[in-house]
Amino acid sequence: MAALRGRRSRPALTGPAPDHDELRQLLSAACSAPDHGRLRPWRLIVVDSAARGPLGDAFAAAHAERDPAASPEELDRTRAKAMRAPMIVVVVGAPRPHPKVPLREQQASAACVAYGLVLAADARGFGAMWRTGWFGDAPKVRAHLGLAEDEEVTGWIYLGTPAGSPPAPRTPLDLPVSYLG
Ligand SMILES: Cc1cc2nc3c(=O)[nH]c(=O)nc-3n(C[C@H](O)[C@H](O)[C@H](O)COP(=O)(O)O)c2cc1C
Repeated sequence: MAALRGRRSRPALTGPAPDHDELRQLLSAACSAPDHGRLRPWRLIVVDSAARGPLGDAFAAAHAERDPAASPEELDRTRAKAMRAPMIVVVVGAPRPHPKVPLREQQASAACVAYGLVLAADARGFGAMWRTGWFGDAPKVRAHLGLAEDEEVTGWIYLGTPAGSPPAPRTPLDLPVSYLG
């Protein structure tokens, strides 16, 4: 309960990122997500510190392709999205046609992996933030990641050590719950 209730996304992240062993533990915890039929309809791509530059270049190239009139400053802002944390883990959903497990269930399983990674990182004292963006669908970025045609970016999980002030406490929500009579 404490892990679920206390987790907060951390947009400001600095080093250190999880080391190799810590990362293996986080990824292994995340991959224990519910998975109908044990299809494992997901995989993970680790973007470490050195891999962020080329990924940012792919973001910028995709931006230039999408908007040939984009200014160098705009392209730089897009390029910098890869540098917002010392590490990014790309959760890739790989849903495939299956006679009993529809695509939406497989996509839901991939989303559980992404959430699990964010939760596990938070529980181990790291900061994490699940981000998405149009560039996850851009052909140049997909090619850079080596995605197959039936794969999709479920989330860019930014990982590192929390920086900046802790987020304000979460406002309690009215629970969107009804009881079936
Ligand atoms: C599928 C998905 C995509 C998201 N994409 C973004 C994003 O691109 N940028 C962003 O600022 N927050 C994004 N968020 C929201 C943050 O991850 C985060 O949940 C939000 O800032 C609220 O913070 P909290 O998790 O501490 O409540 C996304 C969340 C989900 C579930």
